[in-house]
Amino acid sequence: MSKNLEMIHGEAVQDWNFVASAIQGTYFGVGRSKDEIINCCRASKCFGVRDKDLGQQVAFARIVTDGVIYSYLADVVVHPMMRGQGIGKFLIQAIIEDPALRRTNINLCTRDPSFYQKLGFQEGQQFFLRARK
Ligand SMILES: CC(C)(COP(=O)(O)OP(=O)(O)OC[C@H]1O[C@@H](n2cnc3c(N)ncnc32)[C@H](O)[C@@H]1OP(=O)(O)O)[C@@H](O)C(=O)NCCC(=O)NCCS
Repeated sequence: MSKNLEMIHGEAVQDWNFVASAIQGTYFGVGRSKDEIINCCRASKCFGVRDKDLGQQVAFARIVTDGVIYSYLADVVVHPMMRGQGIGKFLIQAIIEDPALRRTNINLCTRDPSFYQKLGFQEGQQFFLRARK
């Protein structure tokens, strides 16, 4: 990895203009308002990646966790112009290795299973959803 990346931890230091527009540009973020995105992210454990050379945030993900048994990984997104350069892998590896999360089971839903399989995630057998109203 030749890029000059750093993790940015916590909701206080995320670039919400970047986070909201990046999530709104994904298949899972369609129709979400900026306020809705900020509110659900602020209630989660937030992780960002900043490109130190560019001086800007280039990726985001969040975790909902009980800190003991279960964590849920959501809203994983890399800047559309910067995909395929290892940034997503850098982000997910940092989350997996986070001391507060590494002993929890990390669940997620995705259309990109091979991205996560390369990072040690295994496909589950069952999934149930009660959709929100
Ligand atoms: C999916 C996403 C986060 C990947 O980030 P990225 O920075 O482009 O990925 P990386 O460059 O770190 O790729 C790491 C590895 O995963 C592979 N990979 C990347 N995107 C992939 C995808 N969409 N599907 C399958 N494999 C993928 C890469 O080929 C690479 O493999 P390698 O290690 O063998 O070379 C990014 O494409 C993205 O933001 N997509 C839009 C939002 C989205 O769909 N998020 C996932 C929802 S859960």
